[in-house]
Amino acid sequence: MSTDTVIPTSPAENPAGAPTRKVFIKTYGCQMNVYDSARMGDALASEGYVPTEEMGEADLILLNTCHIREKAADKVYSALGRLRDMKKARNAEGQELMIGVAGCVAQAEGEEILRREPSVDVVIGPQTYHRLPDALRRARQGDRVVDTDYAVEDKFEHLPAAGKASIRARGVTAFLTVQEGCDKFCTFCVVPYTRGAEVSRPLRQILDEAARLADSGVREITLLGQNVNAWRAEGPDGRTWGLGDLLYRLAEIPGLARLRYTTSHPRDMDDRLIEAHRDLRALMPYLHLPVQAGSDRILKAMNRRHTAAEYLQLIERIRAAKPDIAMSGDFIVGFPGETDSDFEETLQLVEAVNYAQAYSFKYSTRPGTPGADLPDHVPEEVKVERLERLQSLLLKQQAEFAKSCVGKVVDLLLEKPGRMPGQLIGRSPWLQSVNVDAKTSQIGDIIPVRIIGTGPNSLFAEPTQGLVAV
Ligand code: 5AD
Ligand code: SF4
Repeated sequence: MSTDTVIPTSPAENPAGAPTRKVFIKTYGCQMNVYDSARMGDALASEGYVPTEEMGEADLILLNTCHIREKAADKVYSALGRLRDMKKARNAEGQELMIGVAGCVAQAEGEEILRREPSVDVVIGPQTYHRLPDALRRARQGDRVVDTDYAVEDKFEHLPAAGKASIRARGVTAFLTVQEGCDKFCTFCVVPYTRGAEVSRPLRQILDEAARLADSGVREITLLGQNVNAWRAEGPDGRTWGLGDLLYRLAEIPGLARLRYTTSHPRDMDDRLIEAHRDLRALMPYLHLPVQAGSDRILKAMNRRHTAAEYLQLIERIRAAKPDIAMSGDFIVGFPGETDSDFEETLQLVEAVNYAQAYSFKYSTRPGTPGADLPDHVPEEVKVERLERLQSLLLKQQAEFAKSCVGKVVDLLLEKPGRMPGQLIGRSPWLQSVNVDAKTSQIGDIIPVRIIGTGPNSLFAEPTQGLVAV
């Protein structure tokens, strides 16, 4: 799931009189960060910043960091070391270069970043991006600013609505954050500490943003949240709405053809959400539902608050409602105390579910989490071996899933130009990248194609005439 992406943020009008400055945003980590980077770009547009993909020509470099992987902070400090040299060289030429650190490492390290890295001007946590322009103004006056308060409602309130131009720049698919933070406190995870408690965005704001996206040509929206299926808000009928209710409502928005959501916790997968999978054609048949481990003992130590059998029963219910749903998951091997037989139970669970896609990691300690205090750490070589076994099983399942698609006619949302001239890349309902011959003018269309082959990370298809996707 982790990708390092350079976000071309939105081009926007320059307010009268403000000098044009360029911002380069380097995004680490999950889709939530990709979305946040785009929103920081929007907030900065009002200050006259335009995006650049060339770090060398930027007046402001922002690292939007992720804390979920091991040594995340170390990586940020070494990136900052390189930026320090760049800033010195720029300043020697009499030019400005401001450096900001955002995201979860900013939240976790706070002041420490300013102490260790004198070249940093601004440290800003994930809840306060709307105050970024203000922080930069203060930094320009000579302050070094740390703003890592928790004020999620504030952030949802004050982030500028994405303008049409910026939405267009993002293409026919878009992310929309509906929920932030997590109250689950899995014992290995830093998210409840870096992103804070669960907060849901109000329904009206979500509907407004979704309608604006649809108006601007977006065909597919992925709802984001650390624990997205815990989203709750007051509905127009005065009832508390859950994610299922929200999806039914979003499916009514004209032009929005596809809906997805990520990431979900098994405990929050309620009946209404499962019914939405059954009823809504727009809700894509793909579900990222991490389980982490297959042994009840380890699940308990992880504080996942469900058993392996409960997870399997849940998947049975989901599949009964939506038989062609593709399952995706996250796994951790080598959690403290994990024995060979615990690990075998993880493999058995994977066999039982048959995943179309999955992510798997070696356990690594996050300081400050309860897992860090647990005894009985699994030796590195055992973790490596378990990860290899798990990944080869998951890859086999993934390849089998891809092969099972060959010959099928599926709906493809055409997203962007492919590598070869005359080719476009689209997404299947199951989130696979598919290459097909099509014209650039078709981007945004959903067309039936026949899958004719598989590649290492994508599928190949041919357009069909008159056939209807199954
Ligand atoms: N060690 C290894 N993997 C982790 N993840 C989260 N914290 C850790 C950790 N301490 C994985 C989980 C989660 C995914 C986003 O990252 O599998 O679902
Ligand atoms: Fe972390 Fe997900 Fe557990 Fe929340 S549910 S603590 S985000 S692993």
